[in-house]
Amino acid sequence: MLNGKRILLIVSGGIAAYKSLELVRRLRGRGASVRCVLTGAGARFVTPLSLQALSEDRVYSDMFSLTDESEMGHIQLSRDADLLVVAPATANLLARMAAGMADDLAATVLLATDKPVLAAPAMNVRMWTHAATAANVETLRKRGVAFVGPNEGAMACNEFGPGRMAEPDEIVAAIETMLVPRQRPLAGKRAVVTSGPTREAIDPVRYISNHSSGKQGHAIAAALAKLGADVTLVSGPVALADPPGLRTVKVESAEEMLRASLAAGNVDIAVCAAAVADWKVVHPAAGKMKKKAGAPPPQIELAPNPDILATLSRPGPQRPALVVGFAAETENLVANAIEKRQRKGCDWIVANDVSPSTGTFGGERNTVHLISASGVEDWPTLAKEDVALRLAARIALHFSGPPKAEAAE
Ligand SMILES: Cc1cc2nc3c(=O)[nH]c(=O)nc-3n(C[C@H](O)[C@H](O)[C@H](O)COP(=O)(O)O)c2cc1C
Repeated sequence: MLNGKRILLIVSGGIAAYKSLELVRRLRGRGASVRCVLTGAGARFVTPLSLQALSEDRVYSDMFSLTDESEMGHIQLSRDADLLVVAPATANLLARMAAGMADDLAATVLLATDKPVLAAPAMNVRMWTHAATAANVETLRKRGVAFVGPNEGAMACNEFGPGRMAEPDEIVAAIETMLVPRQRPLAGKRAVVTSGPTREAIDPVRYISNHSSGKQGHAIAAALAKLGADVTLVSGPVALADPPGLRTVKVESAEEMLRASLAAGNVDIAVCAAAVADWKVVHPAAGKMKKKAGAPPPQIELAPNPDILATLSRPGPQRPALVVGFAAETENLVANAIEKRQRKGCDWIVANDVSPSTGTFGGERNTVHLISASGVEDWPTLAKEDVALRLAARIALHFSGPPKAEAAE
């Protein structure tokens, strides 16, 4: 709940501004008060009257209005808020924020604030993937601006790709993550989580992969973010929405997954939940391999993929303080997982039985064993979200407790 929280919602000029009306409703429904700042372009998409009626407050647009400046100046607008939310955040406003401009009320408030800022970008896919926007987003992230979305999907401009504004519920979830400090024991910690399968190309249309749905890994990333960690989720191809309140990097092959995991930089926590293909195709064909009548099937030469868990577990200054691996086994689950923990050099292993009869792959529930140097814990069968919350809570405990026995591992 957001009882008593004060949100300053900045609406800039994108098609998605209509969703901000619903966002105001949802936020107020959860007990927050909402005050709106509307850019000139934003007012071409939604009317001040709609925002005023839904927020039950006046809407601020004009920096040079004598009444606005005396009643509620740009500094006061920020002072009176617990959080500034920019939704939609246009390419233009993100560029102005990154450049430190103060050329209208929205940009001035954003420059003058010392409050946390959450941006929900929304724009055409090419605007989002343009190097200029990517650089602006990177700059803003480094300055502490949090992002939710954008999501991938069909867009108003009849194109498909990343650029759709996150849905109001996702934005509310990201706001709750930022504003409920009691539940943020991992604030200040950085985490990388791998999730989903990898795909190893045979040719441009065929690949080697597995049945991993990414549900468990995505839930762990979301749970760590909920507890305040700054999370990078490195995801193989999955049919899941990007969890709110964290950074999702999409990859295909194991090599890309390793590169993206290392690119997440110095992290405190690494959770390797992805089902990484053990082998890659040595020479993927440049064109589609043709079936020829009477010819024998092609011989596909395989080579081992990089071992992401072992690489991240390697001792050295870059090693995360806690590395958690997953063991998906169909037999001798616990014994194999104990052996895997030692072989890979990670701290904990979450072992789960993926025999077809368990329905773990793609299913909603999971039965796991947590293996550390202190022994084996058998957890009850839980929804994957609950396994994730329990694991995130254990990770928080690991970092919050006094120097622990496990440190002597
Ligand atoms: C029909 C229409 C739709 C637009 N949609 C978007 C959008 O979704 N995202 C975006 O970044 N810009 C969009 N633009 C461009 C912005 O409105 C334009 O860059 C404007 O200067 C943004 O101003 P502001 O950032 O001050 O609100 C759109 C423009 C038009 C005419």
